[in-house]
Amino acid sequence: MFGKKYNDFLKLVVYQVYPRSFKDTNSDGIGDLRGIIEKLDYLKELGINAIWICPCFKSPQVDNGYDISDYCDIQPELGNMDDIKELIEKAHKLGIKILMDLVANHTSSEHKWFKESKKSKDNPYSDYYYWFDEPQATYGSIWGGSAWEFCEERQQYYLHRYHTTMPDLNWTNPKVRKEIYDVVDFWSGLGVDGFRCDVITEISKDFSKNQMGMGPHIHEYINGLFGRPEAEHLFTVGECWVWSKEEYCKLTKEERKELSTMFQFEHILFGKKKGGYMPEPQSLTALRDILIRWQEVSYENDLLYPLFTDNHDQPSFISRVGDYKNKRYELATCIATMFYTLRGIPFLFQGQEFGTISPHYDSIDDFRDVSAINYYNYNKDELGEKTILEHLNFGSRDNARRPVAWDDSEFNGFSDVAPWIPLNSNYKEINLKKDRESKKSIFEFYKSLLKLRKENDEIIYGELKVLSQPEDGYWLFERELGDKKIVVCCNFENENKITLPYNSANLLITNNLERKDASCDYSAYEVAIYRI
Ligand code: GLC
Ligand code: CA
Repeated sequence: MFGKKYNDFLKLVVYQVYPRSFKDTNSDGIGDLRGIIEKLDYLKELGINAIWICPCFKSPQVDNGYDISDYCDIQPELGNMDDIKELIEKAHKLGIKILMDLVANHTSSEHKWFKESKKSKDNPYSDYYYWFDEPQATYGSIWGGSAWEFCEERQQYYLHRYHTTMPDLNWTNPKVRKEIYDVVDFWSGLGVDGFRCDVITEISKDFSKNQMGMGPHIHEYINGLFGRPEAEHLFTVGECWVWSKEEYCKLTKEERKELSTMFQFEHILFGKKKGGYMPEPQSLTALRDILIRWQEVSYENDLLYPLFTDNHDQPSFISRVGDYKNKRYELATCIATMFYTLRGIPFLFQGQEFGTISPHYDSIDDFRDVSAINYYNYNKDELGEKTILEHLNFGSRDNARRPVAWDDSEFNGFSDVAPWIPLNSNYKEINLKKDRESKKSIFEFYKSLLKLRKENDEIIYGELKVLSQPEDGYWLFERELGDKKIVVCCNFENENKITLPYNSANLLITNNLERKDASCDYSAYEVAIYRI
């Protein structure tokens, strides 16, 4: 049983904005906070009720804002404090919550704390980061190379799990913990409703291991941060590269007051070699089985499960799991149905709602992401230019970071000048305007699906009962609450006959414009939801 807090959180439908690529309002080619304000009505129409904004704080932008130099101010090219206040106020008026991105594992090397810390072994900030005379353990940086950098000024090494300009904060230092509490309280004081917590399970380290994993104090630190009376009401979703069910429970159970929920990546990596850029063909049956397993964990332990397919670090999901070239509408709506009719919290990524797919480029100059460029530089001799570009076109984080194609005008309705990153190479074919004009509009399907979810508590709270068998090339399941029941039917890549085990069933939603009733012939990626 959920308590009141988690029961309310289950009604959230979150839309993730990558601000630089969302909407530019002052013609500098960079998306901004006013662009989010401008699109609030659109987002309301889509049917979301919360926005997660990727970091918009002061930053040298080495990692597009995940390298923060001031947690309590806005990056000038994205706007200013008045803009964010206006955004919070206008969103709240529309019933939309605002979630910010809390990057607590590291700062930018331009942050005042680091600038002071590196000066000497003995200053008020000297223990804000991890400093050692010799590298500890053989950690590599996630983006290639060593995770230890020598600092001439202090004559010691510091730890950076990401870029050299992103030193890891030393959470064993109570002063550091207090600083981050203050950051959380600053924003929640301005009305922010919660946080997405960047690589949060990395804040406690274990230097006795050679592999980076969660350190021994992780639960204590997270509970210390979010279990405080000032922060308890916040909705928090952790980015946790953690695979164990036990840890999932510990990190997110309501009474433990750590995180409200955490992203779990098994279904994301299943079509992509762990941490790599190499494609592996995958089937929807495999995806279904992963989803069922995690639903079971969520039901058995009363956990909130985030229902997400896309984010700013991943190539478009539909570009990896099916025939997006010929059946993009059917595939996109099938995936949406598979996820958003389950119990959990839907998270949509910008552009996903009209079926954006990963673009294609022929030159490294068309990429901007620091990790893509590192990957290129570290591997180009071994792999060769052609292969590397294939990898980047498949797996690069830039896939998700192309400007949103609002229409097919010169700069896609994103800006009226050339943007900071080349436009999505598919924009002529795939843009919101064209989608909305089409009879097969993915946006309209998303809208109907989210409306159905909002209006039917059995989708939000109901029990899940799977009726199909593991060997079936489709997924059939019920959601039931009290005397209300729906059945969700998702056919996969082949045609199938699916007979419903009821005398009558009323069609609520389908992606087959010809379907009128529960007749049993389903084409590729066809979905239908019925009231029983
Ligand atoms: C997370 C973010 C990613 C960022 C990294 C370092 O994985 O999602 O975009 O580069 O943390 O902050
Ligand atoms: Ca701008």
